[in-house]
Amino acid sequence: MTDFKNTYCMHTATCGQLRKEDVDRQVVLTGWAWHNRDHGGLIFCDLRDREGYTQVVVDPDCVTADEFSIAEHLGREFVLQVEGKVRARGEGMVNPNMPTGEIEVLATALKVLNTSVTPPFSIEDGIETDETTRMKWRYLDLRRPEMYANIKLRHVVAQSLRNSLNKRGFLEVETPILANSTPEGARDYIVPSRPNPGKFYALPQSPQQFKQMLMAGGIERYYQVARCFRDEDLRADRQPEFTQIDIEMSFVRGDDVIDMMEDVMRELLETVGIDHPFPLQRMQYREAMDRFGCDRPDVRFGMELVDLTEIVRGCGFGVFAKAVDAGGVVKCINCKGAGDWSRGEVEKLAKVAEENGAKGMAWIAFTTDGKEKSPIIKFFDDETYAAIKEAADAQPGDLLLFGADTYETVSAVLSALRLTMAERLNVPREGHALLWVVNFPMFRYDEEQGKYAAEHHPFTHVLDEDLDKIEDAPLECGSYSYDIVMDGFELGGGSIRIHNAEEQKRVLRRCGVSEEDLEAKFGHLIHALELGTPPHGGIALGLDRLVMLLAGKPSIRDVIAFPKTSSASDPMTGAPNQVTGRQLKEVNLRIL
Ligand code: AMO
Ligand code: AMP
Repeated sequence: MTDFKNTYCMHTATCGQLRKEDVDRQVVLTGWAWHNRDHGGLIFCDLRDREGYTQVVVDPDCVTADEFSIAEHLGREFVLQVEGKVRARGEGMVNPNMPTGEIEVLATALKVLNTSVTPPFSIEDGIETDETTRMKWRYLDLRRPEMYANIKLRHVVAQSLRNSLNKRGFLEVETPILANSTPEGARDYIVPSRPNPGKFYALPQSPQQFKQMLMAGGIERYYQVARCFRDEDLRADRQPEFTQIDIEMSFVRGDDVIDMMEDVMRELLETVGIDHPFPLQRMQYREAMDRFGCDRPDVRFGMELVDLTEIVRGCGFGVFAKAVDAGGVVKCINCKGAGDWSRGEVEKLAKVAEENGAKGMAWIAFTTDGKEKSPIIKFFDDETYAAIKEAADAQPGDLLLFGADTYETVSAVLSALRLTMAERLNVPREGHALLWVVNFPMFRYDEEQGKYAAEHHPFTHVLDEDLDKIEDAPLECGSYSYDIVMDGFELGGGSIRIHNAEEQKRVLRRCGVSEEDLEAKFGHLIHALELGTPPHGGIALGLDRLVMLLAGKPSIRDVIAFPKTSSASDPMTGAPNQVTGRQLKEVNLRIL
């Protein structure tokens, strides 16, 4: 790759570039005065730019009196242009922790390009400044090497993905931001249309329908680094606007999309220097739920769910027996290393269980000195108790945590406890683990809305063998769908799509779409399917999550240049903001 550093600019070297081989070179550096100190008449200044730091020495004998005076009065974050000569650092002055630590630049000229008032926080890595402050002065935060590295990694990742897709015949196509609602399970951001009073665009939750239209249009292989908008509750891995690497292909089966994605991911991991075995494991959705209680399992550690349903059926402990009688399940996880926790510590975990829908959290602790503590052992006969211990592989030092409820609740509860306990017990989770979770159910029942909804989205192709169950047994319908999971995060999701108009209408009806809305909201799609849309499928990767995981950061905010807070606002610009009465009038709106 051509190195464009030091061209089209005011410097001849960057602050991270100079080494011992450059001694005696005459250079011009530009950057920010980071750390300035006066050592007996010599001024030392660490000059910082996006590439690193270089120590600049200002000697009154080598610059004009004015320039020396400037150096004496440098403030933090002053922007400088320094001309000087590279020289080796003296004996004992070498800094092995700095890539440029063997040299310094003796200034022969110095110019202040801009001054700075005292910055609100120190521009250095490892600072503990609270995040809202960092977001308010995001441009200062971005000057920190750590943040620069994140933004650069994001660029490298996006380019690698683009390169891999380009060479496989994909075209990068832009789709509208002022669009129609597309159901991905969140609320829409809506935008009023001035020329169409009372009408609104929806910002795309994903380009799903447009990419399908592109397939109908014969584009065959599409991708886009697509901005998506979802008004949903924000978390560390969710932002109201985020970026997908959105992909769609025609004339493919599910395996083709998966194989393509693995090739692209393999090339990406090579680019960023991560070793990971391929092909990736493919786990059935049901297996992921059975073993880990969730559809995005972190498979870097065990502590899997143990099914005790048959063992405790009809047992003396009413809570367990009743859960089984009601058609539910009883499961546990074995937390090795927590057997000596106090009763108080264990009972605090019940809060995690309750937050995830549990009515209680039974437990048994096996202390390292051979005691067994629990409020529930007394309810079991010897045989049942022995069978529980055997199934859970209970040993001294172990803590068993139980869930007894519906399959869904027990899964959610034990999955959350598993992750909490891995964190609390510092269970090693080194490296990265990628896998596919495949064959999601087509529908789920949405209790809140009292109707069926698509588990992925309603454009997903129902398994051929389940097509006749759409109307009468929707929960038994499988689908041609797949998620790519990394380190316990859903990195991406996709499916083979419905390309038959009749199937599309049946699925939408099953999701409660009225005959009227079939035409009003989905008419374009249905007509396209009637007009020779080829079989097609695709996937979308969450770029923010991918970069977050590769950078080893706890939040996607760390890898987004200008993220939003948990209340979906931007402390830097103040967005969202009020608009004038006139603006409202123009779009026929009144604030209630
Ligand atoms: P899905 O809704 O699974 O699929 O989204 C794909 C990926 O996008 C990322 N993602 C998010 N990242 C940050 N903040 C958010 N609020 C957020 N929501 C989702 C996740 C997720 O895996 N149209 C389908 C894809 C397809 O079927 O091809 C879709 O959008 O990493
Ligand atoms: P109880 O008989 O209600 O006092 O409960 C006895 C023990 O079972 C307590 O430790 C409860 O936390 C626990 N428990 C109650 N309901 C459940 C449940 N649905 N799943 C798991 N444990 C439960």
